[in-house]
Amino acid sequence: MDTAERLKKIPPYLFMTLRNKISEARARGVDVISLAIGDPVEPTPDPVIEALHTAAKDPENHRYPTDEEWGMRAFREAVARWYARRYEVALDPAREIVALIGSKEGCHHFALGMVNPGETVLVTDPGYPGYKPSIWFAGGEPVPVAMRPEDGFLPRLADIPSDTARKARAFYLNYPNNPTGAVATPAFLAELVEFARAYDIAVCYDNPYSEMVFGVDRLSFLNAPGAKDVGVELNSLSKPFNMTGWRIGMACGNPDIVKAIATVKANTDSGVFNAVQYAGIEALDNGDACTARMLEIYGARRDKVLAALRDLGWTYDPPKGTFYLWVPVPAGHTSASFCDHMLESCAVVLAPGAAYGVNGEGFVRFSLTVADDRLDEALARMRKNLAGLKFD
Ligand SMILES: Cc1ncc(COP(=O)(O)O)c(C=O)c1O
Repeated sequence: MDTAERLKKIPPYLFMTLRNKISEARARGVDVISLAIGDPVEPTPDPVIEALHTAAKDPENHRYPTDEEWGMRAFREAVARWYARRYEVALDPAREIVALIGSKEGCHHFALGMVNPGETVLVTDPGYPGYKPSIWFAGGEPVPVAMRPEDGFLPRLADIPSDTARKARAFYLNYPNNPTGAVATPAFLAELVEFARAYDIAVCYDNPYSEMVFGVDRLSFLNAPGAKDVGVELNSLSKPFNMTGWRIGMACGNPDIVKAIATVKANTDSGVFNAVQYAGIEALDNGDACTARMLEIYGARRDKVLAALRDLGWTYDPPKGTFYLWVPVPAGHTSASFCDHMLESCAVVLAPGAAYGVNGEGFVRFSLTVADDRLDEALARMRKNLAGLKFD
């Protein structure tokens, strides 16, 4: 059966390809350790699970969650409380928040709600692999904007040709950044708002790692003066509360964009299971301790990886955000060849930088979402089997 043309543009999903590689090696009896995928291994906090359990027993919650099309009012109010407490951002639950089935869903529905066929959309390169397919599905054309190490992986907005900027309908970006771990600064966000305003660009600021920062302040796009005039922030309960499988997040900010996303959703998925929204309220209201504990865990794992990399001769300054390390590959390797070498010599899987865009070449991404004993084993294998490579 021939499928739709739009699917033909879409490369195999990076993590499916990685999962296949891992399964093949495991089928050969290899004890593979994956440091490739960003998916917390620690459980969701018990009170969140209990809130789900209680809500799931109430038949009221077994019905379509469509009474309040933008997500339950109580959930949106909890999002507003969380943003006020964690970011000092004021949000109106009635107009400025819509519940999402994870921020990935928001990326997709933002494109359907905001981008017309044939329009161009700026995306950072390297960038989260989910953005381009969402833009293609909407009939748009992604235009890469380079992020370079010498700029702290922040795009040089002033270098985007004005012709390109004028044509662009929207801009997707995320800080703390997947894959580089870079963080934004208030000055960059202010510049982004002015850039978007000058060229009438809708900003899709995807911020699911907003809580994952080391030694710097948490930062929301909505902290920037005027941000709500030009864009939305997508956020998610996946990473701060170990809830990737639960599929819950939120789009917040510009009321027109929020409404556009809500309209697409109302005609697509009918919303988030109410019981999951009740669990989400518990996480948002009472989950700060979980987030703090996860930051300690990731911090300790970062230190271990950095120590191993330094012992092997890698000179590398760690980024200030996310649970990823974006590390230059040894001399003589591409990102793909080094990933193959890691799999063959250490049975450790990393994500190749080139999979995140042309500017990702020369880097690999380590994810710290792996159990400590498995990380220790991976690092022991690296110390043993990578000695002799030239890292500079
Ligand atoms: C930048 C970025 N956006 C979105 C997502 C998806 O998050 P969610 O689980 O909220 O859909 C991820 C997940 O890894 C991500 O890295």
